[in-house]
Amino acid sequence: MNEHRNGAEELELFVICEKSEFQGKADALSAFLGVPCLNGSDAGHECELIFTEDGIVLRNGEMEIRGDFTRLLRRIRNVNSEQIVKAARIRGHEGPLRIIDATAGLGEDSFLLAAAGNTVKLFESDRVIYSLLRDALERAEADPVLQGIAQRMEVQNSDSIRYMSGITESPDVVFLDPMFPERQKSSLVKKKLQLIQQFERPCSNEGELFDAAISCGPKKVIIKRPVKGPFLDGRKPSYSITGKVIRYDCYVL
Ligand SMILES: C[S@@+](CC[C@H](N)C(=O)[O-])C[C@H]1O[C@@H](n2cnc3c(N)ncnc32)[C@H](O)[C@@H]1O
Repeated sequence: MNEHRNGAEELELFVICEKSEFQGKADALSAFLGVPCLNGSDAGHECELIFTEDGIVLRNGEMEIRGDFTRLLRRIRNVNSEQIVKAARIRGHEGPLRIIDATAGLGEDSFLLAAAGNTVKLFESDRVIYSLLRDALERAEADPVLQGIAQRMEVQNSDSIRYMSGITESPDVVFLDPMFPERQKSSLVKKKLQLIQQFERPCSNEGELFDAAISCGPKKVIIKRPVKGPFLDGRKPSYSITGKVIRYDCYVL
């Protein structure tokens, strides 16, 4: 059994199946998360994962969120100008990079990195967020425009610290975007983010995450921070790429 924490254990969460065609998938998700599966007429609980034609939706009152890579279509047209793609580049390296995204979330950063031709191994420890990410990836795999990108992304529901500490084949790049305590309290945090953050926890083991990233032997570690946020675990990067709200701290190793 997976021993990782699960936001669902602390919230009253239900899987809701509104159409019988989704029953098999809804039952599987309810078993995976260890929460009850109800039919549509029983909906209206504090927090629900609902099967819809457009994928799995996490709903809490007015707030709704689902993984959706089609939102990035406009950005992937000019993906090489994305700061995260620039941050991942390694001087002298030709061809695609092998990247580990050790804090996957809903996978949007990884999607941009994969759209630039790289292969990305994603790790998400929370089962609810992982389920939303897996669902978005499956829809992308069935979409003729997105499938080539989705096929370069491989997602696992596990703790990346443990994986990176025991790895035998080094990646080129490790990407980290841990939620840090300040972000959780920010008044600027959008409602949708507040919903997903009920499942994420602020990273209390930044040093351990950083050390695990370095221990797996990448050429570069990239850390996503808010533009005025402190360096991860106080460690100064080789250089940073700074945008209006986000900063990518790059550690060349
Ligand atoms: C801020 S979110 C990442 C958002 C992501 N960059 C995106 O584009 O959607 C951080 C995520 O990392 C996950 N996480 C934190 N520590 C982890 C670990 N050691 N292993 C795997 N996932 C982890 C959290 O559950 C959370 O979903």
